[in-house]
Amino acid sequence: MQTFIFAHRGASKLAPENTMAAFTLAQKMGADGIETDVQLTKDQVPILIHDETLHRTTNGTGYVKDYTFEELKKLDAGKWFSEKYAGERLLGLEEFLEWVSSTSLSLNIELKNNIIDYKDIEDNVLELIKHYGVAERTIISSFNPNSIKRFKRLSKEIECACLTSRRPKDLKSLIEQTKANALHINYNALSKGLMKEAKRLHLPVRTYTVNRPSRLMRAYKLMLDGIFTDVPHSAIEYRELY
Ligand code: G3P
Ligand code: CA
Repeated sequence: MQTFIFAHRGASKLAPENTMAAFTLAQKMGADGIETDVQLTKDQVPILIHDETLHRTTNGTGYVKDYTFEELKKLDAGKWFSEKYAGERLLGLEEFLEWVSSTSLSLNIELKNNIIDYKDIEDNVLELIKHYGVAERTIISSFNPNSIKRFKRLSKEIECACLTSRRPKDLKSLIEQTKANALHINYNALSKGLMKEAKRLHLPVRTYTVNRPSRLMRAYKLMLDGIFTDVPHSAIEYRELY
């Protein structure tokens, strides 16, 4: 089994995260899939941005939730990264899925509802996944176990993963309670013990965020099901060597 390579927020080391530039670059590099983050606008539109606030990755200020989609589309989401990417825009989940459906890429949509509890984010995202016919190649993940539970109630078919920065105290109960199908865990919390436990539970494990060659090689050695990387070209190169 080959470890699956997800471009984390696109090829985000080389282009502004969660923009079309980062996604198309990841595709050109040969990533197997794309990881992206979804928040909700004031008018309940799923939009791709990692932070709850705008200042780090756009020329806006304040919270995503306080602006309409139309207002957010006017922001520049590339200039912060470099002048070369000035004019990149925030993307709605809808236009992203339309693009994905024209490719063979898999995707991991992270619901960013662990800080702000966006009401109905699960329903809104599911509707779009169904509309663009990408359910079979989509994994939903969240740091909020209740959100995974809600998503699984809405759709048993779509793969869902619990995201965690630490090894869960009781992995079996977490999986039973949420009905999640996989675990997405911080690289620093990986261990052989965790891998054994996941194997006993028949649980795929993917890890974030793996960029350095030594870490890439360790992830491949541990036979992880997937990794999230900002440097998909490098991850592919090392996977070929392994
Ligand atoms: O989904 C894996 C990873 O993206 C989770 O952390 O903060 O990069 O969204 P973060
Ligand atoms: Ca993420």
